[in-house]
Order: sequence, then C-alpha cells, then structure tokens
Amino acid sequence: MGNYKDVEDIRSAFEADLKSIDNIKSLDEMRVKYAGKKGVLTLALKSLGKLPADERPQAGQELNILRDEIERELEAKKIAINNLENERKELSEKIDVTLPARGRDCGAFHPVMQTMYEIAEIMTGLGYSIALGPEKEEEFYNFECLNIPAWHPARDMQDTFYFPDNIESDNGKINRTLLRTHTSPVQVRSMLKYGAPLRVVCPGKVYRRDNDPTHSPMFNQMEGLLIDKDVSFAVLKGTIGEMMNAFFGRNLKNRFRASYFPFTEPSMELDIECVECGGHDAHCRICKGTGWLEVAGMGMVHPNVIRAGGIDPEIYNGFAFGIGLDRMAMLKYNINDLRLLFDGNVSYFLSGRSNRSERRAESC
Ligand code: PHE
Repeated sequence: MGNYKDVEDIRSAFEADLKSIDNIKSLDEMRVKYAGKKGVLTLALKSLGKLPADERPQAGQELNILRDEIERELEAKKIAINNLENERKELSEKIDVTLPARGRDCGAFHPVMQTMYEIAEIMTGLGYSIALGPEKEEEFYNFECLNIPAWHPARDMQDTFYFPDNIESDNGKINRTLLRTHTSPVQVRSMLKYGAPLRVVCPGKVYRRDNDPTHSPMFNQMEGLLIDKDVSFAVLKGTIGEMMNAFFGRNLKNRFRASYFPFTEPSMELDIECVECGGHDAHCRICKGTGWLEVAGMGMVHPNVIRAGGIDPEIYNGFAFGIGLDRMAMLKYNINDLRLLFDGNVSYFLSGRSNRSERRAESC
C-alpha cells in the first residue's frame, strides 16, 4: 500500500463505486468506506510508515490529493442526488390545474330561518320595522295585558312552561315568568317602547306544552302590528294578502273566516288557496281535499291591549296578525313532516325531494 499503483487502484475502485450510487444512504455508506476512520484512505495513510523512506513523500502527497478529490466528488454527488430527488418529488406532487373541481357542500339557512328572512324582507318593504322580545316572558305581557286573565279559558289553549322564579314587573306587580306561548307579547312591549303610530313585525321562537307529530313544543312565529289613526280591516286584508302572494311568488285566492282571540276584536283567520293542488285534488295530502290552508290569525287590536301599550284607543286603532313560520316553510319548500325541521339530517333537503317544482318536472 501507499505506492503510486495503490493510489490508482483506490481511485478506480472509488470511481466505479460512485457510478452505481443513486441515493443518499448508499452515498453515506461510501463515505464511511473510503473516508471513514477505518476507511480505505485512512488505512492507506496509516500504512505510509511502512514504505521505504524515499517513497513516502511522493505516496503521501498523492494520497492527500486523492483524499481531497474523493471529498469533492462525494459532495458533488450529494448535491446531484438531492437535486434528482427534489425533481422526482415535484413531479409526483404536480397539481393538474385543468382537473374539474371536486365541488363542496355549501352551507345554507335552515328553511324556517330562510322563511323568516323572506317574510321580514317583504314586510320591511311595506315599511315595517323588526322588533324582538324575550323568549323568557312575564305572565303579564304574555297573557294579562293581552286580555287573557288567569281564569280565561284561552290559557288552556296555550299551556306552557313556567319558571320557578318570579320577577317584579315594570307595573310594580310580582310576575310569574314563563316561556312565551306566542309572539303577541311583543305587541305591548313595542307599543310601550315606540308609541304610535307604529308598524312592526316580531319574529321568534315560541313554546307550548305540545308534542305530537304535528306539534312541536318549540316553534316559530312572526307577529305583525300596525297602530295608526282610522285603520280599517281592509288595510289588514290587503297587507296580509300581499304578503302571502309575495312569499309564494304568485297570486293566491284567500278567504277570511271569523274567529276569536282575546286580544283582537273582531278576529279572523286567513285561509289561502292550497299551494299544492289549488283545490283540484280531493285527496290532496296538504289540504286534505278542502282546497284551503289555514295560515294566520289576526284581527283589529282590542282597545284594552292598546291601552296596556300606553296608547289612547280613542285616538288610535290598528291590527295585528300572527303567522306560523314553520308551517309557511313546510308549505313553500314542500316539507311533509314537521319533525324534519328539528332533526339535523340535511339529506332530505339535499336530495331535492323538498323541491316542489323539481318533483313536478319529474312527474311530467
Ligand atoms: N297569538 C296568536 C296565536 O298564537 C295569533 C294571533 C296574533 C292572533 C295576532 C291575532 C293577532 O295563536
């Protein structure tokens, strides 16, 4: 070892080895084999001492040159391998921007919220403001000031959930608290807050002790209230009729039936022409063959209620109406089971079954 020939042998062995290397791991192994502590070069350098003295300097010099060469080539190879690996990686990760998009589920409003916004928009277009009231309501606002004293049978129709805590109301009386049974308490709250004249709609959740396939203990209503001078029933009929037509997107026949609410006098209920069959199907599952759908309660605000709102009923009068938003949503979006509105499964709505026009197109 150590003479000129040995150096050449090491060099050609190294060159041959290097050619077959194509990854960092084998390159590191090669570095150990040649330049490591027990590597070929190190051993050769150590064995220099065994050479005759006159050959030593030359052999030493050549070995040092070879060591530098090997270091340089190992480094160059390392860079080459890294570049190659990066290129391979880039190729495998390449994004094909021409591929069609995968699509994504998009969020949407709940049908009842959608309905609430649609009706609110129609009503604000007619000059109404939005008023809100508390869901945990005082007995006074929910019943008493609406002409429903404790002994009144109408309390049975709107049985609800009472809270154990009583509070002192604005009128100084101790009041029981309950989950409001309708949005009508916002009538008196709005009158007290804004005075007359007044035009408001009050959307929100209401609660009753009901729970069967067609009644949920929580549902949504929208109250409407107009207070002004010389308001006639015709204005109410025109307003609510326009609202229904705008909501369903076409002119629907309607009829007003005499009814009773303690807080309106006279009181009416509004039926609209069946949005499903238009009165042409004796077996219609929506109107049960009657051709009519009951959609709202209303009437001229009772003088006692106007008085409770701090307004003089000798000067002002007005009307109020209440609409069930869940029912409106079901009618417009063809949802056939109330309970679907309260469970989180959106597949019914995504499947298109709720889309009346699509279903009609299918059956054509
Ligand atoms: N509050 C009544 C109900 O929940 C509806 C209604 C509102 C009736 C306004 C007349 C006037 O049944």
